[in-house]
Amino acid sequence: MKYDIKNIKLAEEGRRKINWAAREMGVLATLETRFKKQKPFLGVRISACLHVSTETGRLMQVLKAGGAQVVLCASNPLSTKDDVAASLVAHDKISVFARHGASRSQFYRHLTAALDSKPHITMDDGADLLALAHTKYRERIPAMYGSTEETTTGIIRLRAMEADGALKLPVIAVNDAQTKHLFDNRYGTGQSTLDGIIRATNVLLAGKTVVVAGYGWCGKGVAMRARGMGSHVAVTEIDPVRALEAVMDGFTVVPMKTVAPRADIIITVTGNCEVISAAIIKRLKDGCIIANSGHFDVEIDVASLKKMAKKSFAGREHVESYVLPGARTINLLTEGRLVNLAAAEGHPSSVMDTSFAGQALAAEYLVKNYKTLAQGVHGLPDVLDQTIASLKLSSLRVKHDILTGRQKNYLNSWGEGT
Ligand code: ADE
Repeated sequence: MKYDIKNIKLAEEGRRKINWAAREMGVLATLETRFKKQKPFLGVRISACLHVSTETGRLMQVLKAGGAQVVLCASNPLSTKDDVAASLVAHDKISVFARHGASRSQFYRHLTAALDSKPHITMDDGADLLALAHTKYRERIPAMYGSTEETTTGIIRLRAMEADGALKLPVIAVNDAQTKHLFDNRYGTGQSTLDGIIRATNVLLAGKTVVVAGYGWCGKGVAMRARGMGSHVAVTEIDPVRALEAVMDGFTVVPMKTVAPRADIIITVTGNCEVISAAIIKRLKDGCIIANSGHFDVEIDVASLKKMAKKSFAGREHVESYVLPGARTINLLTEGRLVNLAAAEGHPSSVMDTSFAGQALAAEYLVKNYKTLAQGVHGLPDVLDQTIASLKLSSLRVKHDILTGRQKNYLNSWGEGT
């Protein structure tokens, strides 16, 4: 079995953490029981490019229980938990190619290694594996069933590929399932982003002016939780509907240029580049903390920040403090990479349970249906979304009402009106 990890001796600690996460992942446990009996992935090779977290570790175990041959590589060099990687190799006999802090070339070597196993299915968080398969490894495509995608940014990328006529496989947009974005993006990103900022800086959020850039599901979650901590929250947004939604949710909506000089903390969650551009950096006040929770490290123009700085120093672990002309020090967290995964542990297990149930069921759906699925981006079928929600409610021991026969008839008839 091939693998490339930092230190196999970390395996015991990794196992302890995966087991701890599993306590909160009741939906995956239910799927694992069924998969062990039915073996839906027998003979199926799955290569996953995900954040190597305890929760991802649990998903890999569940796919393997279903008969899959699994290979895992990292979707971000700073989110890899080396102990989890070690445990998957040592205890679960899963090929892992991931090291915390991997260089760019190492990172791409790991992606290539994941494709070298000739996967039938790729499972992405950011569409890196699928994009690589479509560019440098096209010969792999005909043997593939398709792919599944975890995140908003990945879906945007896939839709661009689709519009270009470049996408040659069916892809299941797990992110677009209701049981994914309504919970993971909102409550997961909301909590883990503040968790990352607090662990990195230990600043008090109460009374601070926090600017949240982007009011998608992730931005909504971050803004909501920052308000809950007592911050004055301002939202910046380019989409008028979302901007209006933020206004009606009670947030101040204001252009970044205007709000930048009074921001104590700016958090980017837009999925776009240069949100904190050189022009914005020039306007920031002394001591401002800037952090990104969007998938790629493009939202803060780190290159310009470095160029403008007279010097920089490590303010703390995960904080690089840049001294700019005019005696202003700007504090950049986790190199502009996902602060929730680099300075904290990503989304909590309970919310990853529903997201990763979506991944497991999307992979099973591809195995069953790939022969008839057209190239392009597909949603996870509603029935699977409903199944995930029902399983989560059961695992939380929450009961809810169901329609009576009379109510079903009422909903299906158009004759009864005023
Ligand atoms: N994305 C955000 N949080 C995550 C986690 N805990 N595991 C895997 N992917 C994630």
